[in-house]
Amino acid sequence: TAEQKPPAAGDVLVYAGGTNKDQPIKVADLKADGLMVKAWPKGEVLKDKNDNNLLILFRYADGVLKEPAKVEDTVQGVIVYGGICQHLGCQVNQKDDGTLLCPCHSGAYDPRAGGEVIGGPPPRPLAQLPVEEKDGVLVVKEYYVRPRYGESVADWQTNRA
Ligand code: FES
Repeated sequence: TAEQKPPAAGDVLVYAGGTNKDQPIKVADLKADGLMVKAWPKGEVLKDKNDNNLLILFRYADGVLKEPAKVEDTVQGVIVYGGICQHLGCQVNQKDDGTLLCPCHSGAYDPRAGGEVIGGPPPRPLAQLPVEEKDGVLVVKEYYVRPRYGESVADWQTNRA
C-alpha cells in the first residue's frame, strides 16, 4: 500500500513521536546537539506502515560531520539515515557518546561519519538519505546513497533511478 512505500524525492520528514508527532520537521527547530530524532517520510500519505521506513536524524554543529558522510546531502548540519540496522533489521539506539548501538547483536555505527560501522556484525554502513530544505522543512532530495536493510542492489538501483 502507499503507506508502505519507501521514501521518495519530495517526501516531507515528519516527527515519529513526541509532542510534535506527525508535524513536518523544520530545520530551525532542531538543536545542533547531535541527539537522535526519529521521523517518517510523508508523501501523499504518511509512510509509517513499514518499519523499514523509520528514519533517524541528527543535527551537528559546524565541522562535526566528517567523511565518509555525504555533506552535500545534508542541510545545515542535519544528516538523515534509515534507522534500521543493516545486519538483521533491528532499530538502533543512541549511546551517551553519540554513537549508535543495535540492541540485537551489538552492531555499532558512527552517525557523524556517514553511518560507518564501528563494531559488530553489520555488513555495511547505515544508508544515508539525502535531504534538502524546502520552505524551512526537511524534504527527501533523492533515494538512499546505498541499499537500506534488506534491499537488494537491483531494487536499490530501481528506487534510486
Ligand atoms: Fe543489528 Fe544484528 S540486527 S547487530
